[in-house]
Amino acid sequence: MRILSGIQPSGKLHIGNYFGMMKPAVELQDSGEETYLFIADYHTLTTSPDPKALRGLIREAAVDFMAVGLDPAKTVFFRQSDVPQVAELSWILSCVTPVGLLERCHSYKDKLARGFSPNSGLFTYPVLMAADILIYGSDVVPVGKDQKQHVEVTRDIALRFNNQYGEIFKIPAERIREEVAVVLGLDGQKMSKSYGNTIELFGPEKETRKKFMRIVTDSKGVEDAKEPDTCSIFALYKLFATAAQREDLAARYRAGGLAYGYAKQELYELFMEQFAQFRKRREEILADPGYVDKVLREGGDKARASAEAMMAKVRQAVGLR
Ligand code: ADP
Ligand code: TRP
Repeated sequence: MRILSGIQPSGKLHIGNYFGMMKPAVELQDSGEETYLFIADYHTLTTSPDPKALRGLIREAAVDFMAVGLDPAKTVFFRQSDVPQVAELSWILSCVTPVGLLERCHSYKDKLARGFSPNSGLFTYPVLMAADILIYGSDVVPVGKDQKQHVEVTRDIALRFNNQYGEIFKIPAERIREEVAVVLGLDGQKMSKSYGNTIELFGPEKETRKKFMRIVTDSKGVEDAKEPDTCSIFALYKLFATAAQREDLAARYRAGGLAYGYAKQELYELFMEQFAQFRKRREEILADPGYVDKVLREGGDKARASAEAMMAKVRQAVGLR
């Protein structure tokens, strides 16, 4: 079985990315299955980033992933654009993809609703994502809930292609971890780079503490009994805490006498404690710049070989060879 996922290098990685995608991906590499993980740099071009900034973000995403435990000996880790065959496949797939299928995609509709004037790359984004998934013969795609529809679209495209040209592609399935389906941000909405409500994984300590202190709560006073299950601080705390720590904090919420500021400090400390070893590892990786390049180059070589084998079949099937 082959497991594959990707992440866009569109900004600093945050706690939502970690629990929704990075941690599950790192855990999967010990499942004994073949895992592929890539940095979706072609996708990020839809947002017209500054070239120099993009180069930096690609590198940072790679470093951050390795810092939180991605092991290149177990996972094929690479840059999407090191496999230009996906752009070729994306074109071929776009010729079996009805426009209506893409017009129904929520993430595209959301951007339109927010007044974006979209480039055609943004519109065909799910086709490129389908190419990413299908070119490696992926069976399982671990993603956050917001990407579910894109994997459904991938299945639809694969079925249409197979129907027209023969059984070339495997039909993939998404895997969503319901318990962490949506991590909330500082303002209680979904944590997202585009909402400016994130807590970065590797921000400077002082700034990180300030972010935790900015988590929005209701206006209950210190002595009031508080409800953990509707509180954004507690929602984040649950992700890091053991069952015993969770129950202990919940009991103190309900008993009254606990200031929100105090709960925020506890959450901050728990986060820093758990990320201490990741921060240390990150410093080590940063100290050896050639290492990241080597990992990505080797991952790219493997991914390209796999993609090229699939493309030979696809070109044959559609009559280009
Ligand atoms: P952002 O919303 O910050 O731009 P992306 O869309 O780049 O994040 O998401 C990258 C990956 O992280 C995806 O698999 C996505 O589902 C997951 N993810 C992002 N934000 C969250 C969140 N708040 N909760 C859970 N998963 C998330
Ligand atoms: N669209 C995904 C996101 O923004 C990133 C991505 C691109 C991806 N191609 C993929 C995820 C293929 C899984 C599989 O998060």
